[in-house]
Amino acid sequence: MTTLLEMNAIRKAFNGVAALSGASIAIERGEVHALIGQNGAGKSTMIKVLTGVYHRDGGTILFNGAESVLTTPREAQATGIATIYQELNLVPLRSVTENVMLGYEPKRLGTFINWREAHRRTREILMRFGIDIDVKMPLGSYSTAIQQLVAIARAVSLDAKLVIMDEPTSSLDASEVKVLFGVVRGLRDAGVSVLYVSHFLDELFEICDRVTTMRDGQTVGCVKLAETTKLELIAGMLGRDPDEIAQAGMTEFGGGAAKQGEVLLTAQDIATGPRLSKFDMTLHRGEIVGLGGLLGAGRTEAARALFGVDALTRGKITLKGAGAPNSPAEAIRAGLGFLTEDRKAEGIIPGMSVRENLTLALLPKLTRNGQIDRARERQLVQKYIDALGIKTADMEQPIRELSGGNQQKVLLARWLANEPDILILDEPTRGVDVGAKREIQMIIRDYVDRGFGVVLISSEFEELVEGADRIVVLNEGRSIGELKNPGITEHKLVQALAHTDEVTA
Ligand SMILES: Nc1ncnc2c1ncn2[C@@H]1O[C@H](COP(=O)(O)OP(=O)(O)OP(=O)(O)O)[C@@H](O)[C@H]1O
Ligand SMILES: [Mg+2]
Repeated sequence: MTTLLEMNAIRKAFNGVAALSGASIAIERGEVHALIGQNGAGKSTMIKVLTGVYHRDGGTILFNGAESVLTTPREAQATGIATIYQELNLVPLRSVTENVMLGYEPKRLGTFINWREAHRRTREILMRFGIDIDVKMPLGSYSTAIQQLVAIARAVSLDAKLVIMDEPTSSLDASEVKVLFGVVRGLRDAGVSVLYVSHFLDELFEICDRVTTMRDGQTVGCVKLAETTKLELIAGMLGRDPDEIAQAGMTEFGGGAAKQGEVLLTAQDIATGPRLSKFDMTLHRGEIVGLGGLLGAGRTEAARALFGVDALTRGKITLKGAGAPNSPAEAIRAGLGFLTEDRKAEGIIPGMSVRENLTLALLPKLTRNGQIDRARERQLVQKYIDALGIKTADMEQPIRELSGGNQQKVLLARWLANEPDILILDEPTRGVDVGAKREIQMIIRDYVDRGFGVVLISSEFEELVEGADRIVVLNEGRSIGELKNPGITEHKLVQALAHTDEVTA
């Protein structure tokens, strides 16, 4: 037998609402198998049922020839299933070594952890991924991307038969994706199977053998990637006819030739430290200005400077004609908003409902004579749930129960509802499915058309090239030039990024 895993007719409900209602998947040994579907389709739930995080209500699982009744993630690991979850379950305050070795530390005399050996092994594992970092430092001091690779390194080092990756590349840049793909191919060649969840459909054609599509808690088909097309995959996810979709126009919408309004914001020759040493930009009303750059180019640092998180060591920011904010609170009062890239640390409040998370920053505006206008609040929340297609049982559902992509949409809605003059969006569509991504891009365009301005940061070149009116190109903490739409292509952007000298377009 070459089949490693067979999940059959899996059912799982939460509070009576079905998340999985007859989902099946079969994975061969040494195969890279993709799992796709819209936000909330049930991909992560399928994985959590397999790994014993959730207990299934029905269905069978055969793993490695035996009926599988895993009840804890730890058991899953012991039988050879290693998982990198969508939400990284690492401990940021602990060292890199502690995170990689957690639970598997080399011992001396059977009890004491042999730290020298632990550090050495960790370094060795990470070097296989081309990561050369100080393993004694807290993991949290490194970028999300590095943390992601550390999680993968940990999983892979556990000698697995099946490695599960739930959206592993969403926070990686192009070169890191390459490293990851190298690792995936290495695993496959060693006979290990990989279950790969991703919203980047192009990626699948590069790295996966077969793909299973999910829709509304069910699996609707499994095909070889060599025998399908992107359009067919999208049609399967949406449950529509490919021709219909081709016509309905998943067509490109270009960044407009901006109708430039009044200047909202300027940054002149600003610096905040070594990671942002010389940055210039201007934002007008009605405009989306993209920040282009590779990881570490200083995009997030630029956003933090504009939002008053990091103090300037040089230069000047002008905000609607007035001075720069000295703190995020001041920035918000001055009409700025900032959707951060790290939704877990700075974004959602897991215990609160979708409604509460969405209107968090909005309550002052909804208050009349000391009373919150609940009817208006609900109306507004419903409007954004509909506009962004947020999949939730109702607006009182705790946000932690939403799928990853839907949590991201709530955060975006929080800021849009607040209507800041200037909205900084750091990776606004991370983890969002292809259909919703398009919707969100339209909503952002709509937003600036109403006279606001948006600063857009995205690692996806396509999103920048299509969505921004102008792109400020950053390299090693400096803005090195600017590209203008119409006329920006991915090729031009990549070229600009590759050059450290000034660029013009
Ligand atoms: N702990 C939970 N409690 C209640 N409902 C849940 C829970 N976990 C998942 N769900 C629901 O199950 C459905 C499937 O969610 P799941 O996380 O599996 O989606 P997904 O396909 O991984 O989506 P995404 O692409 O956004 O990550 C969603 O409607 C979600 O709200
Ligand atoms: Mg998910």
